[in-house]
Amino acid sequence: KKAKMYLDKEFIIDKVDDRIYGSFIEHLGRAIYTGIYEPDHPTADELGFREDVIELVKELNVPIVRYPGGNFVSAYNWEDGVGPKENRPKRLEIAWRTLETNEVGTNEFVQWANKVGAETMMAVNLGTRGIDAARNLIEYCNYPSGTYYSDLRREHGYEQPHNIKTWCLGNEMDGYWQMGHKTAQEYGRLACETAKVMKQVDRDIELIVCGSSHRDMPTFGDWEATVLEHTYEHIDYISLHQYFGNREKDLGYYLAQSVEMDDFIESLVAICDYVKAKKRSDKRINLSFDEWNVWFHTGRPDENFQPWSIAGHLLEDIYTFEDALVVGLILITLLKHADRVKIACLAQLVNVIAPIMTEKGGEVWKQTIYYPYLHATKYGRGTVLKSVISSPTYDSFKVKEVPLLDAVAVMNDEEELTIFAVNRDQKDSLPLSCELRGFATYQVVEHIVMEHEDVKAKNTADNPNNVLPHTKGDAKVEGARVVANLSKLSWNVIRLK
Ligand code: AHR
Repeated sequence: KKAKMYLDKEFIIDKVDDRIYGSFIEHLGRAIYTGIYEPDHPTADELGFREDVIELVKELNVPIVRYPGGNFVSAYNWEDGVGPKENRPKRLEIAWRTLETNEVGTNEFVQWANKVGAETMMAVNLGTRGIDAARNLIEYCNYPSGTYYSDLRREHGYEQPHNIKTWCLGNEMDGYWQMGHKTAQEYGRLACETAKVMKQVDRDIELIVCGSSHRDMPTFGDWEATVLEHTYEHIDYISLHQYFGNREKDLGYYLAQSVEMDDFIESLVAICDYVKAKKRSDKRINLSFDEWNVWFHTGRPDENFQPWSIAGHLLEDIYTFEDALVVGLILITLLKHADRVKIACLAQLVNVIAPIMTEKGGEVWKQTIYYPYLHATKYGRGTVLKSVISSPTYDSFKVKEVPLLDAVAVMNDEEELTIFAVNRDQKDSLPLSCELRGFATYQVVEHIVMEHEDVKAKNTADNPNNVLPHTKGDAKVEGARVVANLSKLSWNVIRLK
């Protein structure tokens, strides 16, 4: 068995929009409270944010963070979270049945995002609220001064506008679980009118309309076509969400779920372009994959969860080595679609289905999935090359002809080349030979590998370094080819210069 790959410096897919390495923080479980915010923690800064968490988010170099939800946003009154903290109401948070203290709201979150060097991607409530609340929020955030809401922000201590550029028109509005769930017609009309009003307030913003919550939604396809019919000229991106999991306890199929993701992206691109053609529009709608991750270890709600508690443990999946492989495959899939996927958010960032975990009052630690995400944000910026791959395949019980090799190559602005590759083979290593055209003097700088004998191996608070990448990969340049032996079930980052 052998895999081949062909790369040519001149053949490109597109520039990577850095926002594909975005993430997501929702008012959910311990994402905010005891996650990013814990005023009593030894590392807390003057605002109550944990510096140890900030350090890791900075290491990940997350470019944009979606906020405040998620399902949470569909019943959220943004006004509850601004102004003097002592006046902020405690609310029953009905999406997750917790108690929301509103200690953190829009201004605090934007400050946190500024500290970690990320943009804020703000979602408005189109579930229980609508056009007016969205209009007021954008005036509060983005208008400089001299109006009711901009002056209110200044009174609250924020003289300068936040200038939030990227906005989501609600969350998962196709989902029956969503507070204020709507039909495609209802949502399409509301999203269109909200978009118009928001862009009247600020012409520089970009808007994301809700697509499907996952590819098996019964309304997938029709939902997007209808929503785009209504909103096409007023919005910039359409969202898609997907969570992956080894529910069937079948690793072959689990590793093939990125093939299904590929199909999901391509189907949505086709729907966008179908509406474009119908409308004879010159405008191209791109994709915001604004929720993706592995999520299946915990259910909803978690077993020990007490309703109406503050900062209870919710959706705290502890990830395995095989989950890290799937995250690597997802990142490869996003990169392959760099021409149409311009935003993507790993859902979520801290404690809730997250790469970063915290102990209340204690340490912060990295899950297995932290590493492929780190490698991609570090080495996956620049331009994605069109790669031609020929690989042996296998059949999973559901997806057939799954290539053993999945790979993509990115060249950064300094013309360093990085190949990200996963060997899906469960038994054998896979020899890779990659022909390089236009990279005459290149040598291997580093070959990072993540592998583990036990696919169920985890990192935990007590044993945080159980699954770690190493740099002992054997990639080398031979003539005009890079050759490597990719260990069975491995994530590989081959860096060349
Ligand atoms: O990320 C967890 C939840 O998953 C989000 O709140 C929701 O949008 C999705 O269903």
